[in-house]
Amino acid sequence: MKPILVTAALPYANGPVHIGHLAGCYIPADVFVRYMRLKGEDVKFICGSDEHGVPITIKAKAEGITPQQVVDKYHKMMGDSFAEFGISFDIYSRTSNKKHHETASGFFKQLYDTGKFTEQVTEQYYDEEAKQFLADRYIEGTCPKCGNEKAYGDQCENCGSSLSPSDLINPRSKLSGSKPVMRETKHWFLPLNDYAPWLREYILVGHKNDWKPNVYGQCKSWLDAGDGLQPRAMTRDLDWGVPVPIPGAEGKVLYVWFDAPIGYISATRELLPDKWEHYWKNPDSRLIHFIGKDNIVFHCIIFPAILKAHGGYVVPENVPANEFLNLEGDKISTSRNWAVWLHEYLNDFPGKQDVLRYTLIATAPETKDNDFTWRDFQARNNSELVAILGNFVNRTLVLTGNYYGGKVPAKGNYTEAENTLINFITDTKKQIGESIERYRLRESLSLLMDIARAGNKYLADLEPWKLIKTDADRTATVLHAALQVSGALSLLMEPFLPHTGKKLRDMLGIDNHQWDDHHIGNLLAEGHQLNAAALLFDKIEDPAIEAQIEKLAATKAATVATQAAEAATTENKSEPAKPETTFEEFMKMDIRIGTILEAERVPKTDKLLKLLVSTGDEKRTIVSGIAAHYAPENIIGQQVTLLANLAPRKIKGIESKGMILMAEDETGKLVFVMPSESLRDGSGVK
Ligand code: 2FM
Ligand code: ZN
Repeated sequence: MKPILVTAALPYANGPVHIGHLAGCYIPADVFVRYMRLKGEDVKFICGSDEHGVPITIKAKAEGITPQQVVDKYHKMMGDSFAEFGISFDIYSRTSNKKHHETASGFFKQLYDTGKFTEQVTEQYYDEEAKQFLADRYIEGTCPKCGNEKAYGDQCENCGSSLSPSDLINPRSKLSGSKPVMRETKHWFLPLNDYAPWLREYILVGHKNDWKPNVYGQCKSWLDAGDGLQPRAMTRDLDWGVPVPIPGAEGKVLYVWFDAPIGYISATRELLPDKWEHYWKNPDSRLIHFIGKDNIVFHCIIFPAILKAHGGYVVPENVPANEFLNLEGDKISTSRNWAVWLHEYLNDFPGKQDVLRYTLIATAPETKDNDFTWRDFQARNNSELVAILGNFVNRTLVLTGNYYGGKVPAKGNYTEAENTLINFITDTKKQIGESIERYRLRESLSLLMDIARAGNKYLADLEPWKLIKTDADRTATVLHAALQVSGALSLLMEPFLPHTGKKLRDMLGIDNHQWDDHHIGNLLAEGHQLNAAALLFDKIEDPAIEAQIEKLAATKAATVATQAAEAATTENKSEPAKPETTFEEFMKMDIRIGTILEAERVPKTDKLLKLLVSTGDEKRTIVSGIAAHYAPENIIGQQVTLLANLAPRKIKGIESKGMILMAEDETGKLVFVMPSESLRDGSGVK
């Protein structure tokens, strides 16, 4: 039996866990591992907190606490969330612990001693006030590509360009706000270029057909890039991390992307002090990294090159990275609080961990980015979990309770209907396994639901509630078969819905916990006593979903307000030019003149006024964000220009039909755009 070592990306301990984390790698890894455990494979599941690097020090600065306090706080919180959602790590460790420092340090030292690094002196930005070199994320400036004034030293979040600090126009230190200067500093580089031929063979030849196209494609574009792979510094000037264990490197730490993946090794050593090499140094071992797409290059190129440079370790057999999950059409963002946090979800939907697991697997961003919406979540619960899976199991158990006092009735003689049903389960079970082994979890979950669908159809076709009046033997057979389907579901759902699988097995009074040892269509013996039945899932009503949608709307409004406040305090300058448009596009806008007839504040908001505006032949309600600039009583009778054919939108529960056009001055003040002389309401603007 080949050992299987499954890792899930070590998340930065700088914030709570959200649905994007779960969907990206933790749930897929967990499904895979649970399945392998049921198969009796020799599998271990490794994870832990990534507690080093700039993301931690930035968070510490933002919260006014030390990096150690940051990681202590979030390590605990993240570990708790993972446990609540049934992510079944064999170990959840952390990279600030001693074992990891020793392992990472020893690894670096071995590479250094065997001459695997090159030393280079380069120029880097230095903050003379804060007296420290600046990591890329500590430098802010204007993006040379799009003019965004808040681009980071490594990336512009506005246009998505990847940058280096020297690309920024007007760089500023985020530590002191001062202009950084260039200063020389020495670092140790891994010459990735030397590993390029090996990497090409390993990935482009060796894994052309078994790595996911998104992963393979990203690797290929790195390996095929015109300037090739470049040496990459494995050390950083920072005071938080694993100290570089060589002379002349005081004040420097290991690059977080050097130390974090070694965290997988440290955690395995911690878990299995005497057996860890069985997973890491055994040529038969299957190393599988579950990650999100932003980590592909580190796991497919840089970490394998580090392992290869060291020698003696296996390299990843597969890196089944997912794309990103968005939330209600927008990128999940911690800084904008645009996320569904697991600890909040659990408060709002106690006991419904499996509903979220189900939704996140069913909509997993396996091949492209995908969107989580609360309405879809509700529909998946009500129309799939409740109406298909829960309904089938419940009908079967309730009828068995009513007719047979909860004892499994006699099998009697199976007819073609039962044989077809049981064969279907056997075949589908095989396909579920194959799909999981190919990392196609959406497909595998939908196959599981096909079994519940088949069960429902069987009950609907055979109608045991009618049959009971005419044919007792046949009714027993039908419920016997339906119970076998429930038994099969209780086992096959375990990788996906572990809490529900356990609940169902408890109701059925079975603990068959192996994928292959039992005949899947015969898990319940005749005469076996079941326990009391309870609903597996219950309906989620509209108000619970609306509350979530409103919570997000409030988050969005708060972000808009913050951005507006920030914009108002930045130095005055003209609006950046927008891209060219066409006359045809412009002509689609129905812009006309109107007069404000009534105005009032929208309760519980600071920014919004509800206006009644005459546009000649009609009066319409428009909600406008001008409350900070105009008192309602002062604008009655004001002529305004409005975009009349803007699609109606609900703002704070009020249907707003159109938008008042406002000009913004350099301080952020809004003023009305109006004709230079009074015009008839409804006059067009061309
Ligand atoms: O992207 C992240 O959250 C990183 N902390 C992932 C590290 S994965 C591995 F290398 F440990
Ligand atoms: Zn940009």
